[in-house]
Amino acid sequence: MRELLVKYIEEVNAFVAADASEAEQFRLKFLSKKGILAGLFAEFKDVPPDQKKEVGAMLNELKNALHQKVEEMKQSFEQAEKPAHEGTDLTRPVDNFEPGSRHPLSIVRNEIIRIFSRIGFSVAEDREIEDDWHNFSALNFPEEHPARDMQDTFFIEKDPDILLRTHTSSVQIRVMEKMKPPIRMIFPGRVFRNEVISARAHCIFHQVEGLYVDKNVSFADLKQTLLFFAREMFGEKTQIRLRPSYFPFTEPSGEMDISCNICGGKGCNICKYTGWVEILGCGMVDPSVFENCGIDSNEYTGFAFGMGIERVAMLKYQVHDLRLFFENDLRFLKQFAGSV
Ligand code: PHE
Repeated sequence: MRELLVKYIEEVNAFVAADASEAEQFRLKFLSKKGILAGLFAEFKDVPPDQKKEVGAMLNELKNALHQKVEEMKQSFEQAEKPAHEGTDLTRPVDNFEPGSRHPLSIVRNEIIRIFSRIGFSVAEDREIEDDWHNFSALNFPEEHPARDMQDTFFIEKDPDILLRTHTSSVQIRVMEKMKPPIRMIFPGRVFRNEVISARAHCIFHQVEGLYVDKNVSFADLKQTLLFFAREMFGEKTQIRLRPSYFPFTEPSGEMDISCNICGGKGCNICKYTGWVEILGCGMVDPSVFENCGIDSNEYTGFAFGMGIERVAMLKYQVHDLRLFFENDLRFLKQFAGSV
C-alpha cells in the first residue's frame, strides 16, 4: 500500500487539467464515493498496527494534495468562465460628464458646406504651405503686387518662394490643374496673413472658396448662386448687392454685400448705418487663369468666390471681436453648445 500511495501522491501533484471536464473526471476518479481515496481508507483497516502511523500520514498527505488540487482547478476554470463585468454594478448611474460642443467656426463651415452641397457643389481641401505659382503667379498677380510683400505674406523660403497661403484661391489652381470641367466645388481652409491682430483682423483665419467651371457659365449664374447662399445662411428676406471690385484672377470682379441681418437694412452700428454689410469677393474666372491650368478659355467659362468664415460667423452670431474665435475661452465657446 505504501508504494501505491507514493504513486498516487506523485500523480496528483503532477496532474494538469486541459479543461473543466478533465478536472471533473479527475475529481470523480479520486474523490467520489467509490473513488480511489475511499478505497484506500477502507483498506487502511487492514494495515498492520506498526505501519499504521506511517501509512496514515501518507494517506492524509494524499487527501490534502487532492483537495488542494481540486480547489486550484475549480478556481482557475471558474475564473475563465466568469463574465468580464462580474463584480461591476451595471445599474449604477454614469458619472455626470459634459459633452463638448463644436467650435462656432466649425458650425458655420459645416453650414456653408451643407448649403452648397444642396446645389451640387462638392468639397476639396489642399495644402496650407504653398509655392509662389499656386498662391500668386497662376492667379495672375503681377510681380509688384503688394500681397507678395513680406509685410503681407508669411514667407518660409525665398527664391523659390514658399509661403503660407494667403487665400484659398490657391486650391482653385490645384484643382483645375488636375481636373477637367465641369467643376463645381468649394474649398474650405485656413489662411495666413501678416496682419496686426485686432478686433477685426487676425494673422490666421478661415475662408471658403467656390469654383464653378463649365460651358456657358454666366454672371447670372454667379449672382443666383450667391443669392441662394445668402438667403439660406441669413434668412429668406436677405437682399444682396454686388459692387464692382478688382481681383487679379477674376474679370469682371465684384464684392457682395448682404442687407444687414441685425437691423434688417434700417441702419445700425454693425452696418455703420448703411443697411449693408460686406461678405465676400467674387467674379468670372479670368481667361488667363484657365490657360495657366491647361483649360481652354474659348470653350469654358466659370465663376469663383471667396468668403471669410469668421466674417460670416460674426454676422450670424453678432460676435464683435474676431479674437474670441481663437482664445478658447470656455465662457464664449459654451454659448454654442447644442448647435451642430
Ligand atoms: N481670394 C480673394 C481674397 O482672399 C477672394 C476671392 C475669391 C475673390 C475668389 C474672387 C474670387 O480676398
